[in-house]
This record gives sequence, C-alpha cells and structure tokens, in this order.
Amino acid sequence: MNHVNKLRPATARRSSALKGDIRIPGDKSISHRSFMFGGLARGETRITGLLEGEDVINTGKAMQAMGASVRKEGDTWIVTGTGNGCLLAPEAPLDFGNAGTGCRLTMGLVGVYDFDSTFIGDASLSRRPMGRVLNPLREMGVQVKSEPGDRLPVTLHGPATPAPITYRVPMASAQVKSAVLLAGLNTPGVTTVIEPVMTRDHTEKMLRGFGADLEVETDADGVRTIRLIGQGELTGQVIDVPGDPSSTAFPLVAALLVPGSEILIRNVLMNPTRTGLIQTLQEMGGDIEILDARLAGGEDVADLRVRGSSLRGVTVPPDRAPSMIDEYPVLAVAASFAEGETVMHGLEELRVKESDRLAAVARGLELNGVDCTEGEDWLTVRGRPDGKGLGNAKGEAVVTHLDHRIAMSFLVMGLVSEHPVTVDDSAIIATSFPEFMDLMTGLGATIAARDE
Ligand code: S3P
Repeated sequence: MNHVNKLRPATARRSSALKGDIRIPGDKSISHRSFMFGGLARGETRITGLLEGEDVINTGKAMQAMGASVRKEGDTWIVTGTGNGCLLAPEAPLDFGNAGTGCRLTMGLVGVYDFDSTFIGDASLSRRPMGRVLNPLREMGVQVKSEPGDRLPVTLHGPATPAPITYRVPMASAQVKSAVLLAGLNTPGVTTVIEPVMTRDHTEKMLRGFGADLEVETDADGVRTIRLIGQGELTGQVIDVPGDPSSTAFPLVAALLVPGSEILIRNVLMNPTRTGLIQTLQEMGGDIEILDARLAGGEDVADLRVRGSSLRGVTVPPDRAPSMIDEYPVLAVAASFAEGETVMHGLEELRVKESDRLAAVARGLELNGVDCTEGEDWLTVRGRPDGKGLGNAKGEAVVTHLDHRIAMSFLVMGLVSEHPVTVDDSAIIATSFPEFMDLMTGLGATIAARDE
C-alpha cells in the first residue's frame, strides 16, 4: 500500500475526561502468524479476532499468492493451507506495504524454496535493513538479490536442499528469530536458534500449537536455545486472537494523562514478553488495575481498568526494551506530562523501525515544546505535568515518516497539551489500528483528520 500521495493530517486538542468500555482489535504479531501458519498448515485454520489492518491483510494476500485459500465468513477468517513444504512459487512480487513483520517472516517461510520469490514494500519498508534476515538465509543456501545495503526489492531463490544452521540472533529481534525458525520448517534436520535476550515468543508458542516439533531450553543466564525439526507436518488450528497490547497503549496512556478519565479495556494480551509498558507506567504511578487475568488459547489475557493519574519520571532499564519495543513513542508522550525526568535506555532498535523512531519522537517532542535529549540509544524527557506551553499553537505538524505509532502517539499528546498537536498524516494508522480515530473519539477525545 502506498500512502505517499494521500497524506491525511490530523489534529488533537485538549479533551475532557475520557470514559468508556472498549475492546481493542487483535494483536498484530499473532494475526500475521495466524495467516502465515494457517496458510502453510494442512487443512483449515479458523481465526476470530484477527486484526484487519493493512499490514495483516497484505500477509493474507501473500499467502494466497503462494497457494493458500483465505476467506471470511461472518466474523471468522478461514484459511486452507497448502501443507508444510508445499507453497507455490508466487507469480508476482509479494507486496508487504509498510509491514516489517510480514515481509521478514515470509522471507524465512518461502526463501528456502527452490524457486524465485520477490519482496517489495512502501517507501518506509524499502528503507529498512533486511540483512538481519538475509544473512542467516544465505547460510542456509539461499541466493539473494537485493538493493545496496540489503534493502528491498529483494529476490530469493532457495537451494535444492537447504542446510540446517545454528544461529545466534545478534540483536533483540523476534522477527529475525522467527524468520530462521520458519526457514527451518522446510529444511531437513534440526534448525537451532540461540536467543541471548528473550523477545516475544508467539512464533514458538503458535508453531507448537500447529504441531511443529519444537523445543525451548533456557539456561541460568536466560539464554534460550530453540530447536526445530524441519519438514514435519503442520495441522490447521482454531485461533482467537487477543487484543493487541501495543494498540492498547494509546487509549491507556490517554486515559492516564487526561484528568478524571476512567476506561475499561477488555481482552488485552498479557504475554509477559509484551507487558513492559504496563509495568513502567505502574512504576510511574499510573492507576492501571489488571482484572480477570485468565488464559485464553494458551495466552495470558486480562481486562484493564485505567484511571487518570499523576505520573512521576522513572529510569527504564535497557533489559526491558524487548518487552515494550513498540511502546517507547507513547511512553515518551506519557513522560512529557510526568513530574521530573524519565530516562529510557537500550533504544538502539528504535532506529530501524517503520521510521527512525528515536529521532522522530525527539523532533516531535521538540516541536511541541517538550524538553528532551536524544542520545545514540537513549532518550531523556523532562515532563511538565500541567501541560502548560506544550503543543504547537502555530499548527506546525509532527513529521510521521509513514510511521503509524508516531502518528498515534502525538495525537494522544494533543489531548492533554495546552495547544493542539498536529501530525502530518493519520492515514498510515490504518496499517495497524484502523479503528483508532473512532475508538478514541468514542471515549471523548477531540481528534479530527482533514483531507488535503
Ligand atoms: C514483531 C517484532 C518486533 C516488533 C514488531 C513486531 C513481531 O520487531 O517491533 O512490531 O511480530 O515479531 P523486531 O523483531 O524488529 O524487534
């Protein structure tokens, strides 16, 4: 999907107390994997709660282009897979739009097949580094054609027999871990991934659910060794996707910041590899009650009651980054209204997200009057609890760089700033959270988009 020609600026203004009872759309990571594993497994996979954002829909289209059938009946997506090892050669380039997860995981999934597959994406995805996935695939025998710096478009061609590898993931990345494991699915023997720092574990959990022969060992230092026996059978599953904690972050922070708010957010995924933001906001004094914690489809899920709170600055340790990697932009917004200083460490991976998120956040904060300092891999924000002077009275817009989370984070900021906050584009929000505007205005937020 190409948003370059249809920017849709939006402005958020100081709002009165947010109230309501909401359900957040399905988790993006689990939704991508549901389409991928369903499309690969033998038989039918039935998915409810799927996130119908552009990123996930592009993954569904890619699986269709490789032989899976994908259709929707009522609220249920029904995927009929090809069977493991039986993907077909896509006839046209696979277009992943804005989605790093869709693109990188599918590179692993199909890259080891003995045919050509070509990967393209939007301007943001075309700037992102693919070498982190292409390098282990090269070790498995995959031929790679790519643009300089291993950028898209990329064409892969697997060997007659891929080689199983042992791969130590050099950065904290669930996408890299997952790409190697998915390549291992169509590789004879044992593919081993060593993960020094634990990242989201949806691939491991879900592959086991589909019947893959996969085991995980964690040593005393927390280093995980994941072994997958390739070329086994995968069988279709029934999946109910829980609400996305990364999307939850926006109404959650909004309700903490807008005085007098009280909202209930239902059915939120609480997998411990995803809850770093909630922990951090609680440490800052945020009133977040975790209700009815339960297990659903093998995942931790809960409802969250969130009330307007006075926040104070904290230091967020680097080892928390993997469990809240997508939440730093909105945490920086929360920190802008906290008493004192918030220091965030271990942010190097933010440089290679949908935008250079560390720079995009720092520029956006500065434009809206926040006192902050950007380091190579850290950010310090000095807050102003009353929001006085924050926002941009001249209406100058935050540059979102085709990054949905930058857009949503700064719209949350506008709800509590003295002056309005404008973002140059809100259309990109549809990649991960198409319901964002309606859901926020339904809670009482004053946000409006305008077409240019
Ligand atoms: C994801 C992994 C993370 C995250 C992304 C989703 C996944 O990326 O930022 O939004 O579903 O595996 P990295 O692997 O690049 O950290």
